[in-house]
Order: sequence, then structure tokens, then C-alpha cells
Amino acid sequence: MLDKLNEIEKAALDSLQSITDQAALEAWRVSTLGRSSPLMLVFAELGKLSKEERPVVGQAANRVKLALESALAKRAEAIKSAALAKSLAEEKLDVTLPGRKVKIGRLHPSTQQLRRVLDILAEMGFQVYTSREVESDEMNFQLLNFPPHHPAREMQDSFYVETEGRADNPILLRTHTSPGQIRAMRDAVRAAKDPKNPPPIRIALPGMCFRYEQITARSEIQFNQVEGLAVGKGITFSDLKGTLIDFAHRMFGQNARTRFRASYFPFTEPSAEMDVECFVCGGKGCPVCKNSGWLEILGCGMVHPIVLQNGGYDPKVYSGFAFGMGPERQLMLRNKINDIRYFWGNDVRFLEQF
Ligand code: PHE
Repeated sequence: MLDKLNEIEKAALDSLQSITDQAALEAWRVSTLGRSSPLMLVFAELGKLSKEERPVVGQAANRVKLALESALAKRAEAIKSAALAKSLAEEKLDVTLPGRKVKIGRLHPSTQQLRRVLDILAEMGFQVYTSREVESDEMNFQLLNFPPHHPAREMQDSFYVETEGRADNPILLRTHTSPGQIRAMRDAVRAAKDPKNPPPIRIALPGMCFRYEQITARSEIQFNQVEGLAVGKGITFSDLKGTLIDFAHRMFGQNARTRFRASYFPFTEPSAEMDVECFVCGGKGCPVCKNSGWLEILGCGMVHPIVLQNGGYDPKVYSGFAFGMGPERQLMLRNKINDIRYFWGNDVRFLEQF
């Protein structure tokens, strides 16, 4: 019996040597110290032994049991510290590594440019007036002196909304910010103490416009505009020129040269387009200005008497000027961006350059 106990002890201690993980250790515990292990069978058979043998074998069995239990505890401890050492080595933290930059968002380049334009106009006394993006045909065209079948509408092919029973005044996404002129004038008239004598207006009208276009490098179906409108008594074309030349200096630099070319819009008369000298080549001619030396940046003109009338301002008493410009176009010119589709393409490689 004593030999058998020694054998059990030796075999168990031997097999313990090769155990390196928790699961194997548990299996070892069950097979050496568990209820049906050889050692426990010795205990179970103690009763069958003679009176003389029983205490000797019992003591020896107890000694083996204690020895195995303490070997188990030691092994468990060793496995635990090995695991800790391993995880410390593997998950080493190098505190000298440079930190990872937190990515913070920023304003879309169009919004940035829109705000530059509004900042300058605000310094010149133009208050921001926002108007709706979904308009009626009446506001977007008719009251701006576009008759129903006027060919000028074709400059602004439109997204109409299917609405029943409004054939003469369908709903559409505004094609320009100009319908805000009518809304701003009507608001001012409505708020005036004397509607026959409404106050002067000086507003900047920013926002998204939509046209039904074939999308190409040069045209998108959505874009921003900033409209300017000044209405009052005695406003002349020279006020328009002075204001827009001053704007160009503030936006493109004090030395920026400008020129006005006659143009046509149904809602202004006379109408013009303003160019600035090409800031890429300094006016010498380059691909950006298509060798003309000039870049077109806005449309403008004196508010048409019919439009003043439609806004509630008597054209015999009041006059005014209006202009409209595109922030995306300005950014394209300024940064030599050759494809307008970048603006709404949502590619961070483009956006993060601003
Ligand atoms: N609304 C015109 C356009 O979108 C621009 C413009 C605005 C022209 C105001 C004259 C006066 O093309």
C-alpha cells in the first residue's frame, strides 16, 4: 500500500510538471484529488486494512494528499503569474508614442465662402434675410417679370413638384434666390406703419438653389447663391456700381480691377454682369479665365419697376438695385477647382483641404 502511495505521488507530481494552463490544472486536480482518483480510493479502502496497518497507511495517504494539494497551489500560483507576465509583456504601453490626433469637423467650403460673403455685406450694412427653398412659380418667376412662356425661363430649367390643380402656379425648388426679393419687400410693407411709405431695404439673401441640369464639371443641380437687394428713395446705378466695386475690393483685394458688361435679366433693368480681373494670371490670360483676363462673378441690375410694384414699393417713388452671386463659383475661381461636382461629392480628400 505504501509503495502504491509513493507511486501515486510520484506520477502525479511528474504530470504536474508539464501543466502550464488553468484548464489542464483543473483536469489534473480532478484526476489526482477528485472523488474517484487512485488516492481517494486508498482512503476508501482504509477500512479493509488491519488495525496495525490502518494508521500507518492513513498517515501516509494524508501526507501524500497534503503534498499534492500544496503542489497544486504552487502550480496555480505559478500559472497565474506567468499569465500576468505574459499579458504585461504583450500589452506594453509605449507612453512615448505621439498621440493620435482627434479629427474635428469643420464647415463645408461652400458655407465658409457663404459666410465670407455675408461678413463683407454685413460690414456694408446688408442684413441677412433668409427665404424658403421651395417656392411657387409665381414667386420664382411670374412676380419677377418672367411671363409664363418667356424664353428666359429656359436659363433656369426647374424641378417642379407634381401638384394637382395648380397648373397656373406650380410648386418648384427655387432656381435662384431672387424670389426672396419679393418676399422681403412684402414683409417690409406688411410691417410698415404706413404701407404706402415702407422703409428702405438692404438685405443679403443666402441659400441653396436648384436647377434641372445635366450634371457636368461646370453645372450642378444644386448650388448656393447670395442675393443682394437695396431699395429706397433716390438709389441709382452708381450706387450699384460703387457697392459692388467696394465688395470686390473687400473680397478679392484692394487692387482687384472690375468691369461691368451689359446683360439681361427679366427682373432688372438695366442689367449687367460684373467681372473681376483674373487673379490667377493677373489679367494676362490663362486657362482659368479662358485667356480673356476677366472672371465673371455676378449678375446685377436696377430692380425692374414691375418687380418693385409686385413687392409693394411704388416705382415712381422708390428705386433699387439687386445682385446675385455664387459662392461655389468664387471658390472655384479662387482655388482653381476645375469640377463643381466636388462640392457635393462628399469626398473628404477634397473637403479637408479647406
Ligand atoms: N437671379 C439671377 C440668376 O440666378 C442673378 C441676379 C440676381 C441677377 C439679382 C440680377 C439681379 O442668374
